[in-house]
Amino acid sequence: MTKITFPAWTSLQAHYEQIRDARLRDWFAPENDPAPTRAERFTYSGGGLAADFSKNRITDETLKLLVQLAREAGVEKRRDAMFAGEIVNPTEGRAVLHTALRASDPKAPFHAQVQAERAKMAAFATQVRDGKWTGYTGKRIRHIVNIGIGGSDLGPKMVVHALKHIASPDISAHFVSNVDGADLYRVLEQIDPEETLTIVVSKTFTTLETMTNAHSMRDWFLQKGCPENALAKHFVGVSANPTEVVKFGIAKENVFEMWDWVGGRYSLWSAVGLSIMISIGPAHFDELLAGANEMDQHFRTAPLERNLPVLLGMIGIWYRNFFGSQSYLVAPYSEALHFLPSYLQQLEMESNGKQARLDGTMVEYETSAVTWGEPGTNGQHAFFQMLHQGPTIVPIDFIAVLTPEHPLASHHPKLLANCFAQSEAMMLGRTVEEAKKVAGPNKPELVPHIVFPGNRPTTTLLVDALTARSLGALIALYEHKVLTQGTVWDINSFDQWGVELGKILGKVVEADLTAANVEAGKHDSSTSALIARARAALKK
Ligand code: F6P
Repeated sequence: MTKITFPAWTSLQAHYEQIRDARLRDWFAPENDPAPTRAERFTYSGGGLAADFSKNRITDETLKLLVQLAREAGVEKRRDAMFAGEIVNPTEGRAVLHTALRASDPKAPFHAQVQAERAKMAAFATQVRDGKWTGYTGKRIRHIVNIGIGGSDLGPKMVVHALKHIASPDISAHFVSNVDGADLYRVLEQIDPEETLTIVVSKTFTTLETMTNAHSMRDWFLQKGCPENALAKHFVGVSANPTEVVKFGIAKENVFEMWDWVGGRYSLWSAVGLSIMISIGPAHFDELLAGANEMDQHFRTAPLERNLPVLLGMIGIWYRNFFGSQSYLVAPYSEALHFLPSYLQQLEMESNGKQARLDGTMVEYETSAVTWGEPGTNGQHAFFQMLHQGPTIVPIDFIAVLTPEHPLASHHPKLLANCFAQSEAMMLGRTVEEAKKVAGPNKPELVPHIVFPGNRPTTTLLVDALTARSLGALIALYEHKVLTQGTVWDINSFDQWGVELGKILGKVVEADLTAANVEAGKHDSSTSALIARARAALKK
């Protein structure tokens, strides 16, 4: 077990004791908040985005120490090593270069290779969008079905949904990830094989869920009358394992490559984003990359004191490791960003949900918080009760998009008002005195129920307008936040060994569900009983 012993860590422990009971409400009281105000001091910009950190339980001293900790932990060194293509994923012996996928600098690693693959994607996407790529009966493509899971699904799905307002109206994008046949079946019910293009996305091209869905999709095409020799018009593959793609039966020229130096959850910028490019077109896809690149440049060059991903990451560490927060919430006040929280769940928890340090010793401190979320205002009418009055403190990232991307502009002030009012309420709370006034003289018993503790920390991220560019910057912001935290925790943010055991045992259980007999005592009594029940049900 290894502790963090950086001097700044120790200073932060002492500092936490000093300010743990301080109240944001007092810090914001006009007499305590002269110019430059907290809002002015703790609002930072980068990559075209702004972040108001002022409603966090931080002082100038807190930020100074957190930045010092980032420096002592070597965030700059790890960041530079990643951009330079060094092996920063040592357990898999890989470089980590999703940033190279959006680099404009011709000297960036693998630049020519990246550009060539993107040109191939663009040529293909344009043919599909222009109706020149046709199905086996000569009809244009009206449906694309992305079959993939995890990083081969969540990023593209999130972006396609977010940028629907700039997507081609002629093409509907569907995403199938779950091995539950219901997922694919529900899509099959909506599509016509003559007008459907399947994009099978899998870095490894061995993932059980994806391969099962891909095979069922192929069977469906054949059942519906697509001749086998015309399947090439309906299937393309994206993978770092092109041999397997061809073995599956996808034509060699329909294979788009990604590389082992792109992690699955960091891959939407590669050919994994083909569904994005078909939906929004190559020019907007370039904008998405440009936004991410802008955030990359900010991350690389801004002093840590004003570096958005570093500040976001370090404030997350402040709550996780000093306040002991178990989870953190992302609440985008944007329906378009509906799938951002689930995308971030993989990004944050698959990257930093680990306890082995890079040197192989175990951590003696917490790492990734549970990441969760739901678009506002929906969450307000579901779980915000707990956030306001429960005994557990959950730090929140609110994301506000200042201008609507749709014509129903009259809704927008209501949306933004809710976002800002929630952060104000989380911060202010309601004191006993205030509650007494609200309850009135006849209802004193109500007072404890309408007191709000307040002092609940929130960050508000501000996006001027939801464009491909701003979305690219927002995603890159979180990617680099994850690197910052992983560096302080001294873990490898780029492997995912934790998913392996379940996969191995899954194969054994799958075989037992259909085998003639299951060897007695092979599993524990609970798993054996579950298998027995399922075997009985499956036989019916
Ligand atoms: O099982 C986890 C995982 O390996 C993720 O890291 C990855 O994004 C997902 O599965 C899908 O993997 P692939 O793209 O190889 O199908």
